[in-house]
Amino acid sequence: MEKIMNKIKEIRENEGSMLDAFMAVQAELGYLAPEAITAIAGIYDTTEAQVYETASFYSYLYLEPVGKHVIRVCRSAPCCAAGALEVTEMIGRRLGIGIGETTEDGLFTLIEGECVGQCAKAPVITVDRKVYGPLTEELLEEIIGQYC
Ligand code: FES
Repeated sequence: MEKIMNKIKEIRENEGSMLDAFMAVQAELGYLAPEAITAIAGIYDTTEAQVYETASFYSYLYLEPVGKHVIRVCRSAPCCAAGALEVTEMIGRRLGIGIGETTEDGLFTLIEGECVGQCAKAPVITVDRKVYGPLTEELLEEIIGQYC
C-alpha cells in the first residue's frame, strides 16, 4: 500500500487528475480498494464519499474486486437487437457464473456495459479493452482459449 500511496502523491504533485490516481491504483491492486479510496481522499484533501462518487462515474473503474479478465457484454440497443441477452446467458453457462460474478479460478468476471462504438459487430463483448464480435459460440470458445 505504501508503494501505491507514493505513486498517488507523485501524481498529485504533478497536477495529475484524480483519474490518473484511480488508474494507478487499479493497475496495482486490480480495483479501487477501500483503503486506496481513503488514501486518495486524504491526498486530494476531499471526502471518501466524493472520491467514490467520482470513481463510480467511470464504468471501467472497479469498486469491487474483479477477475484477471473482465468480460463486458454490450447491452445497448443495437447489441440487444442482435442477441446480447442470449450472449450473456451463453457466457454465463460456459463459465458457470452470473452477471457481476467471477469464476472460481479468478480468471473471468462477467458484467454488462454500454455501447463501445463497434455496433457493426453486434452482438459485441469486450475482454478487458479488446473488442470481439459478432459473438458466436465458436468465437467465445476461441476467446476463452486465448485468455486461459
Ligand atoms: S450497441 Fe453494442 S457496440 Fe454499439
